[in-house]
Amino acid sequence: MNDRVYLSPPHMNGREMGYIERAFATNWIAPLGENIDAFEDAVQRYVGMPHALALSSGTAAMHLAMMSLGIGPGDIVLCADVTFAASCNPIVYQGAEPVFIDCDQESWCIDPALLADALLFYKKEDKIPKAVVVVDLYGLPADYDRILPVCAEFGVPVIEDAAEALGSSYKGSMCGSFGDPSILSFNANKIITASSGGMVLSRSREAIQKMRYWATQAREPLPYYEHKEIGYNYRMSNICAGIGRGQMETLPAYVKKRREIYKRYKEALADLPVRFNPVIPGAEPNFWLTVMVIEEGCGISPTAVAEALAAENIETRPFWKPMHMQPVYRSRRFFSRRNPAGEELFARGLCLPSGTAMDERVQDRIIDIIRSCFMQGRSYVKTGVGL
Ligand SMILES: Cc1ncc(COP(=O)(O)O)c(C=O)c1O
Repeated sequence: MNDRVYLSPPHMNGREMGYIERAFATNWIAPLGENIDAFEDAVQRYVGMPHALALSSGTAAMHLAMMSLGIGPGDIVLCADVTFAASCNPIVYQGAEPVFIDCDQESWCIDPALLADALLFYKKEDKIPKAVVVVDLYGLPADYDRILPVCAEFGVPVIEDAAEALGSSYKGSMCGSFGDPSILSFNANKIITASSGGMVLSRSREAIQKMRYWATQAREPLPYYEHKEIGYNYRMSNICAGIGRGQMETLPAYVKKRREIYKRYKEALADLPVRFNPVIPGAEPNFWLTVMVIEEGCGISPTAVAEALAAENIETRPFWKPMHMQPVYRSRRFFSRRNPAGEELFARGLCLPSGTAMDERVQDRIIDIIRSCFMQGRSYVKTGVGL
């Protein structure tokens, strides 16, 4: 059996260990130290945000981002429907009400027209949402030229969930700089990792200071333990930050490689009845994962392709299952058109191995297996292409 091919495994570049060793040598094995400061500094400069706070996970970053906007019981928070649950679970941690907005086929991110409809609906109800969570899905920038003005018109802040989008840009600005606050994730499957970890970015020094206080058990600056608020243990360790700091040094190369992987899949499978991550004008995605969407009615299901790859020890994953279809969120309000775009993507999409350490021979093998699924005794027609 061939070695297992994972979807997006960690890719160590060799620089991480030096920073970890320095932490050991100086005995900074705590959730503070030089690696944390340097990692925060490298990320904030790369993204173009003035302040950053390294945390134990992207989920912790999202929770603190919500606290910093004062989200609490009874508040409505609009959120992209097609995402990972960590984008919206913190809304519920805060006792607020998540309301989901479908994606569109052009960007796979929150549909700006539906977002405007939802904001108008709540304005008429005299219940302006406390925030909008916009997610750059699979590293694809959302349509910020349409999203930001409509949110500004209603005076609603945007939290950007750029967990999957470090290295992506839209019209010259990096993902992670469109929200205030924005969040990133460095878990093991992201474009760079800190083993686990996350970061919150903001233009406000005060907001970051307050989030640091909550992340450190809300300890008052006194010689004894005094607490006036409920806090959390959310800070990143200096060891994990050493990994993240080392990884930042090859981030540009990793972004380049993920883009090449996407291009290679797209070109090699261009004659099949499939499409790939869309790119809106002005977007330069990092293509964290290449996602293949198989046309309905062509006789091949994503499950069949996933099974053929699994038989060769190759990992794939279905498209994110929309939040409005999740048992835990099914009763929540959901804004969509007649046929939710997210449902179609969930039914037809398949995430392909996209790790930066994958070599071209392995990718060619994946491509061959996918092609053989479509070729085996079946005829198919790609819309608009005579075969
Ligand atoms: C869109 C999105 N938001 C939030 C998260 C949460 O990040 P973490 O796993 O670091 O808590 C992830 C990744 O897992 C994600 O993909």
